Amino acid sequence: MTSSDRDAPSPVPAVPGAGPLEREAYDGLAPIYDYVMRHVDYVEWAEYVRSLLERHGDGVQRLIELACGTGNATLEFDRLGYDVAGYDASPAMIDVARGKAETLRRDVAFAVRDLRRLGQIGPVDAAVCLYDSFNYLLQPGDVDTALAEVWRVLADGGLFIFDVCTEENSLRHFSDMRDAEEGPGFVYSRHSYYDREQRLQFNAFDIRYDEGPVHVRETHRQRIYRCDELVERIGRSGFDLLACYDGFSLRKGSEKANRVHFVLRRQSAAAPSSPSPADRQEEAQGY
Ligand SMILES: C[S@@+](CC[C@H](N)C(=O)[O-])C[C@H]1O[C@@H](n2cnc3c(N)ncnc32)[C@H](O)[C@@H]1O
Repeated sequence: MTSSDRDAPSPVPAVPGAGPLEREAYDGLAPIYDYVMRHVDYVEWAEYVRSLLERHGDGVQRLIELACGTGNATLEFDRLGYDVAGYDASPAMIDVARGKAETLRRDVAFAVRDLRRLGQIGPVDAAVCLYDSFNYLLQPGDVDTALAEVWRVLADGGLFIFDVCTEENSLRHFSDMRDAEEGPGFVYSRHSYYDREQRLQFNAFDIRYDEGPVHVRETHRQRIYRCDELVERIGRSGFDLLACYDGFSLRKGSEKANRVHFVLRRQSAAAPSSPSPADRQEEAQGY
């Protein structure tokens, strides 16, 4: 992923016989993202997040979804009655989200924004960042920057909920996985592989659209953070770690889970204290 400042994706030239065009992550995938992810139950996911907002928050109304992709969860949060807006670094994904909101006649704003540079947003009561989007922050310093940015746009006491996928998930499901599918107007194949040494998960897509003819490739990279590293960084961020949950449950999250949801509360604007990481880890035992 690159910054929010990058230009909207240029139209892919139709060059019969030429090799595949290498695209930035999500530039080529955006038009078929919803098809590829059609197994994901966004209704259930949004309900789960709502249950966490109600459990840990106090009358959350103004909500933003960061790295919202094509807006599937954002539109669910709108349906649930939140004042919600969606932001994503990929102009192609935001285009799809906007088109969907227009088609569904839903008054939800979507804008291109990088997690690490949120600009003028807020203050809002809560921010969420779902479906392992946080793993796209490739450098540990990016996590600190993103946390600082989310802290900045939240009201005092505001909540931040994000999830990450774990090494267990990569090793168990995506260490060397290939699949291929044909959808309306396209075929794609995917190779997922995990570099254990670098803790990097790769997902390489090769997509051929009927229209064009167009052949694109894009490789996604995600850093698989250790949960205790995230806990340590959260401890230095001006947030309190309220809980971390295993998957979509209320069980304590651990490295054994495939996915862990973290729930953070913004400390007061006046001098966020920085207790030792050990203090923060008290609530996050189980790693
Ligand atoms: C797996 S998709 C999830 C999208 C959406 N949250 C969902 O549940 O369908 C990951 C998303 O993260 C976005 N993303 C990656 N890095 C980002 C960054 N630094 N800032 C904002 N969005 C980012 C991508 O553009 C992509 O839309």
